[in-house]
Formats: sequence, structure tokens, C-alpha cells
Amino acid sequence: MSEQDDSVAHGKALWHGRFAAAPAEELMAFTVSLPFDRRLWLDDITGSRAHVAMLGATGILDSDTVGAIEDALATVHDEMASGRFAFVETDEDIHTAIERRITQIAGDAGARLHTGRSRNDQVATALRLWCKREIRVVISKVLDLVDVLHARATETDSAGTAVYLPGYTHLQRAQPVLLSHHLRAHGWALMRDADRLFDALERLDVSPLGAGALAGSSLPIDPQHSAALLGFAKAFDNSLDAVSDRDFVAELLAHIALLGVHLSRIGEEWVLWTSEEFGFARLDDAYATGSSMLPQKKNADIAELARGKAGRLIGNLAGLLTTLKGLPLAYNRDLQEDKEPLFDSVDQVRRALVALAGMIATATFNSQNMVDAGDAEALAATDLAEWLVERGVPFRRAHAIVGEVVRSAIESGQSLAAVVSRHAELGAEAAGLLSPGSAIARRRSRGGAGPSVSADQANRFSEELARLRAHR
Ligand code: ARG
Repeated sequence: MSEQDDSVAHGKALWHGRFAAAPAEELMAFTVSLPFDRRLWLDDITGSRAHVAMLGATGILDSDTVGAIEDALATVHDEMASGRFAFVETDEDIHTAIERRITQIAGDAGARLHTGRSRNDQVATALRLWCKREIRVVISKVLDLVDVLHARATETDSAGTAVYLPGYTHLQRAQPVLLSHHLRAHGWALMRDADRLFDALERLDVSPLGAGALAGSSLPIDPQHSAALLGFAKAFDNSLDAVSDRDFVAELLAHIALLGVHLSRIGEEWVLWTSEEFGFARLDDAYATGSSMLPQKKNADIAELARGKAGRLIGNLAGLLTTLKGLPLAYNRDLQEDKEPLFDSVDQVRRALVALAGMIATATFNSQNMVDAGDAEALAATDLAEWLVERGVPFRRAHAIVGEVVRSAIESGQSLAAVVSRHAELGAEAAGLLSPGSAIARRRSRGGAGPSVSADQANRFSEELARLRAHR
């Protein structure tokens, strides 16, 4: 082992050669990324395995050297997996730490691992590999939540009698909707989130390995060979782009932010639904929290945090975009700031998805409260207008007639049905539309909120869910 290799193995910075002085403590404290990028260890080893195999296949390294590096990588893998790996103070990041240890184990052979490679393409490769694995987990959690919504929707659809509640616009009661319809509405949004994440995965499936620091290599490396070994769909086309591109991180953060926004809207509704004022649902004790002072309290903290986390997920996207804005090509150390927001968004959204799924799966619906609210007479006002439309009255005039009827009922303190049945153009038959269960039954157009079209929607929902589950 040469003296220089030895010094790296014993804890000098990888780049120490050009420097007369050791790094200042403050420099290390400010610039290290090891505390957060150590979770890339497996992907770094995977990338190194492909790189060294490529160096062997192209004849850049002989087979003994390749074998020695592969053995050292296997040792490091075991040390990392078992938590025995000993980090040292000079380990700037996970990539440096692993290369240091490889050099320590395999000596001269280890010192050849970084041939034709830079940390710039190495980092980008590891991060893409990490995304390919972890985003699939996020997608499966999204689909698990969709499963829960689907199961609860199917359960209420087969309850024997229709379970419905007021649908709201402006948070004012508008028209009744089946509970299953409401639950599926969120499911459709979440399935679009899964679809978007799959789409991003397809676009990020490009290997940057072989781009080197920024301009490729003078050695006869073969980026397509390592790309194929790593299971990437293709290798980069432009080395500058390969090491500067963090579009994939921005895209994932954007999709996760939107997913978080969807979860926040679900969360807000559950906060309302579980309030005494609404009384539409009750949480299982295991998914609710108490108050430190108020003994009677049962709080929907999962729903509230699902609502609250959206701010942070949006912040992570805004932060990364701000970091990327105006960066010149190619790698700049600023790019190290891609990891914390990415890891944070992935971690947070995963936990939110799992917690919400458990909360919704175990909650009890107060169907009677929902149906009572959904049967409020005024929710059938549009049906009265449409009843007039069916009898030849132009809709705008029908709308005005019913509006006046509603106003006169409110002003006279009578029920809407009483006023409608005495009305010259409406009468007893129209008043029948206000009876319980009538308005929900009349929501019968395709994709609408009533029971006669819900099976049709349920089929299309199942089909889309199955398509996403089968997505490769
Ligand atoms: N820890 C750095 C990152 O995550 C590694 C790349 C450093 N490259 C360099 N040329 N300093 O981006």
C-alpha cells in the first residue's frame, strides 16, 4: 500500500493530496452530510458494485482487483447492515466513509474503486436508486389508503339501506351524496397521486453513473454497461446534465406536496365529522388522543396532523426549488441540500398515509346522523327546480320560483313541504320530492352521487385500483 492510500484509509480526507492543512473543525461541522445521507449506504454499495463490474468488463481493472473490491464491498455491506460499521471523524458523507473503509480492507485494490468516477455521478446514482425503491413504498401506502376508502365505501353500499350525508359547497349543505361516493371522491384523488408518482419514477429511471465530475472520462468506461447492471432503463446522454439534474427530486417533492394537500383535505373533514356539531363519525380509541387537562376530550390528532403536515411538504418543495434556482452547471455543493427535504417528505407522508388508513379503517360512522342531515328538506330544492324543468319551465325561471318558495318557508317559519304543496305551480306531487330518501335516489346521472349509479362507479374505481396495483 502506498503512503497516500494508507493516509486515506487512516482517516484523511479523500481529497487531501492538494491540501497542506487538515480541514478546519468548522468546515467539517458545516459541510458534512453523513448524519442524513448515511441512509444511502445500500444504494452507494449497489452503485459501486456496478461500477467496479464495469471497470472489470472494460478491462480497466484486472479480475483480481475487481474480486478484491467486491469482497471488500461485501464486508462493508455486512458491517453496515449489522450496525458494526465504524465511522470516523473525517467521514464527510456516506460515500467517503465507504470508500475509506474499502481502501482500508482491500488496500491498493480498494484505492482503485473510484477510477473513472466522481462523487458527483456517484451521489446522483445512489439517490436515484434510493428513489426507485422508496417511492414504490410510498405508492403502495397510497394504494393501501385507497383500499381502506374502497372497503369502507363498499361496506356502506351493501348496508341494505342507503347511507348518505349532505354534500357541501362553501361548507353549506348543498345536495345529498352517498357516503360511499364521498369516500371514493378522495380515493380518485389519491389514485391520481399514485399515477403521478409512477410517472415520475419512469422519468427518473436514468443512470448518471459514468458522467464523472462533469465531463465523462479519458478512460474507456462504459456507462451503458453499469446502467444495465443497475437496472436503469437507460444511461445519461449528457454528462453535465447528469450530474446537475435534480428535477427528479423536485418532481417527487411536488407530487408528495400535492398528495399531502389531499391528505390535509381528508384530515380537515374528519376533524369536522368527529366534532359534536357534525357527529358523523367516531374514532376508535386507539386512533384518538386525549387532553392533558380536559378529561372529557377525545381528539382527532391524526386528522389534524395530516392537515398540518401539508405545510411542511409544500415547504420542502419550495425550499428545494429555491436551492436549484440560478445554480450554474454542473455540480455545486448546494445540491447536497436535496436530501433532507426529500427524506423528510418521504418519511412524513408515509407515516401520515399509514396513520390515516388505520384511523379510517377503525372509525365508526354515525349513519343515522348523516342520513338525518342528508334528508333536510332544503337539500332537495334543486330537485324541485328540475321537476319544473321536466314540465317545460325554463331552468332559470324554475330556479327563481323555488328560491321564492324557500324564502317564504323561512320567513313564515313553515316547512318547505307545506309551502310547496300549496304552491300553484308545484303542489302535492312536487312536495313528495322533499320526503326522506327521495333526493339521494334522484342523483342518478353517470358519476353522480346516488345509489342507482354507484355500482357503476365502484366498478371503474376497482379497475383503476387494480391497474395501479399491477403497475410495473
Ligand atoms: N455529500 C455531497 C452531496 O451529497 C457529495 C458530493 C460532493 N462532491 C463534491 N465534489 N464535493 O452532494
